[in-house]
Amino acid sequence: MDLIEDLNWRYATKKFTDRKVSKEKLQHILEATNLTASSCGLQPYRLFVIDNPTLQAKLGLGSFNGQIEYSSHLIVFAAYNQVTTEHIQDLVDLTAKEKEVTKESLDGLFMTLDSYFKSRTATQNSIWADKQAYIALGTALIAAANVRVDATPMEGFDPHRFDALLNLTDKGLHSTVILSIGYRDEKNDYYAGTKKVRVPLDKMATMIDQNSKFY
Ligand SMILES: Cc1cc2nc3c(=O)[nH]c(=O)nc-3n(C[C@H](O)[C@H](O)[C@H](O)COP(=O)(O)O)c2cc1C
Repeated sequence: MDLIEDLNWRYATKKFTDRKVSKEKLQHILEATNLTASSCGLQPYRLFVIDNPTLQAKLGLGSFNGQIEYSSHLIVFAAYNQVTTEHIQDLVDLTAKEKEVTKESLDGLFMTLDSYFKSRTATQNSIWADKQAYIALGTALIAAANVRVDATPMEGFDPHRFDALLNLTDKGLHSTVILSIGYRDEKNDYYAGTKKVRVPLDKMATMIDQNSKFY
């Protein structure tokens, strides 16, 4: 299907029906998300895919986003709290295995990444990890639209509640952003069918070619 068509079709769904997303479509969304580019290839986040109404109700308590509770699945993007030597070693080990090269041949990569992340504060690395998770969120949104699954990206949630209920701190993670998926309840969703509002492309993108003057 045409990508622009997919993106025009999707919208941040406010109300979902009870229809469940199939395993196949969920797999498509997760596989696409896992193929997201990440800085240094570190993928400094993990996904928690929740299909549990009781837990979803607890997670959504106090949030204006009813979609946390009422959706087919809730995907939590949880980023690393810090980047450790172990994370970098894991990347080196996986790269060696997948590319069928020796770990020693990746010593340069290990040293470069390890010293780079050590030269920064834990806060800097954690913010960097959050940014990477947002890129994955973008892929998930596109992948969902591609298989005509509705989705709502959300920052309107209580991260402390999520971190506690999902035991994220013990895993060295924190909740960054969340995504509900399911099927739009067209009749009861005030946002369904409303016009998409975007800045005109000539305001969004400035073209700079050889003849352009720039300062
Ligand atoms: C990172 C992020 C956080 C968002 N948080 C919420 C939210 O908490 N609740 C909500 O209903 N929509 C949320 N949205 C949806 C935006 O409001 C929506 O994408 C925007 O208004 C553009 O509309 P469209 O996605 O329907 O084209 C969020 C979107 C993004 C990308």
